[in-house]
Amino acid sequence: MLESFPELEGTAWGRLLGAVLADYPAHADFIGKSFGSCSPAVRETALGTAESIERLVDGRISEVIAGYRWMCGMVLEEELHFRRTGSYRYSRFEDANREVYANAPLMEQYMSGLLLSQVLWSNHLDVFDFYVREFIGQLSPTGRHLEVGPGHGLFLYQAAKRGLKELAGWDVSRTSLDRTAVCLKELGITAPVALEERNVFEPLAAGDRGRFDSIVISEVLEHVERPGEALATLHSCLAPGGRIFVNAPVNSPALDHIYLFQEPEELVELVKGAGFSVEATRFAPATGRTEAKARKARAPISAAVVGRVR
Ligand SMILES: C[S@@+](CC[C@H](N)C(=O)[O-])C[C@H]1O[C@@H](n2cnc3c(N)ncnc32)[C@H](O)[C@@H]1O
Repeated sequence: MLESFPELEGTAWGRLLGAVLADYPAHADFIGKSFGSCSPAVRETALGTAESIERLVDGRISEVIAGYRWMCGMVLEEELHFRRTGSYRYSRFEDANREVYANAPLMEQYMSGLLLSQVLWSNHLDVFDFYVREFIGQLSPTGRHLEVGPGHGLFLYQAAKRGLKELAGWDVSRTSLDRTAVCLKELGITAPVALEERNVFEPLAAGDRGRFDSIVISEVLEHVERPGEALATLHSCLAPGGRIFVNAPVNSPALDHIYLFQEPEELVELVKGAGFSVEATRFAPATGRTEAKARKARAPISAAVVGRVR
């Protein structure tokens, strides 16, 4: 299948796709659709992302592909539940925490799966390109930056590469934070990054108010019971004029997705309601669909929003 895309030859992206296909040949059609639907700009960003991922999976590619295959199976099972019931399996944080975040081996698999999805799923490719072009490019080197739920670490790495004054990450999962730390180290980040086991709903300390100039929260709001409240908390953590990057999928079942966004506009309204003006949006349908078809079929769409403190 890769022969149809000669531009991938000799690239890290091509090698990663080749390794996945060798292990999981049934995925060829999906990968072809995903690559085929990427714009030239998205492909350019993906080539760089794939180089980072290739370094991160060096010596453990089989384990990472196993994690990816586990994640695809889990998503398929949850998709069947969603189609039958119209809702996600769980709606309470304590269920997601018990089933996923507190389960270290499962969390490891999940982070591996998400890492590979960054170069395999067209919606993740598209949103990452949007993040790099619309958000990262405008960060000031004197800025103080926070990411909530940094997980595999690729988003935080892009910020760390800019040599910002202060970098922090908050996550409820120790396994996830450990994975973030390994990612930053292996990709050559030597500046200190304050990675803290912390729930975004914890009451803020006085020093947290106005502490950051930029905040990223990607693929986290669908994991919380009250996403509007989480955004309002993050608004309080930003200095005047501070910017936020928010990314959450709509109609996207997974074991730990507890808040169902049904339309991308719901997320945009939530960002506005928390006190931000919206500067840019990108709505990226899951691989193989147009946005119109995804909306009609209630299929996943990643909704990304850049906001600024009003
Ligand atoms: C799907 S991962 C996101 C990884 C990465 N940001 C991405 O975009 O792929 C979700 C992360 O959010 C964390 N998380 C879930 N609920 C949280 C909360 N209330 N406060 C802080 N982190 C939370 C989970 O532990 C997990 O590491």
